[in-house]
Amino acid sequence: MRSFSGRDILSLKDFERHEFMRVFEIAQQLEPIARNRRNTDILKEKTLVTAFYQPSTRTRLAHEAAMIRLGGQVTGFSDAKMTRAGDFYQESIKDTVKMLEYYGDVIVMRHFQQGAPHEAAKWASIPVINGGDGWGEHPTQVLTDLYTVLREKGRLDGLKWLAVGDMRMRTMHSLAYGLTQFDCPITFVSPPDMSLTDDFKKELSEYSLDFKEVEHVEQAIADADIILVEPVVQPDYSKSVDEREGELALTPANYTITRELLETKAKSDAILLHSLPRMDEIPVDVDATRWSRYWEEAFNGVVMRMALLALVLGKME
Ligand code: CP
Repeated sequence: MRSFSGRDILSLKDFERHEFMRVFEIAQQLEPIARNRRNTDILKEKTLVTAFYQPSTRTRLAHEAAMIRLGGQVTGFSDAKMTRAGDFYQESIKDTVKMLEYYGDVIVMRHFQQGAPHEAAKWASIPVINGGDGWGEHPTQVLTDLYTVLREKGRLDGLKWLAVGDMRMRTMHSLAYGLTQFDCPITFVSPPDMSLTDDFKKELSEYSLDFKEVEHVEQAIADADIILVEPVVQPDYSKSVDEREGELALTPANYTITRELLETKAKSDAILLHSLPRMDEIPVDVDATRWSRYWEEAFNGVVMRMALLALVLGKME
């Protein structure tokens, strides 16, 4: 197996099945630290640099919380406008990263340009973790989702997925790449203008992913073991900040998972994931049903980042 030490985590397209399983093993080993709300000293000599050019609640803070749980330090920025990268100078990724690599030992970057973390990795002598790049990928989120399924179901192979939302989303791209490594048929449901592109479908077929598309969640929910939902009312991920204007349209029923739908159509033991933030595609009365697992997913987000940081910083092999 390729070593994780010093490695960039940019895309799940690069990940092999045994590498997923190794990350999950490490996550499971480290999970009790977070579960028991303890901090350790595994990364006590290491510093995480967060470089966030787009807003984030979960990805940035879960990485920071993970670093703190492992005894490391954190520095960085959550608003590029307050740095030379976002003000008058518009400092390049190369010039910025050439500085950041002296301020810490690993960088996690979120950027509105697809491929920006890849550009950073080209110049950085320390590992770069992709915290979401434009409409590109969101690998650490999907590692979290797969780990959540493994913990909840005890396996990944043989489970049927239903993915609902905007298929242009970075999460959906990483999910599709990730599932190519497992025996997991998937059905996609999205508005026609947010569907998988022909190029991406061709690529997924080349990777032997067993997938199909339908128009309405009601056509697929009865078969699903895992229901993963993302919004169809979305910001533009290629902007640094996309602020809401006026009233938002409601999510059409085709892409909404209601309590009634779960009670009448879903498998009794299916689980419902959402990386959050949500709009109205999962109404809040679903939270207290037996299907919802998004709060567990949020906890696992910290555990997964602990595993990735320990691995890329060479403290676990
Ligand atoms: N799930 C997710 O990426 O959330 P944030 O945008 O808050 O990081």
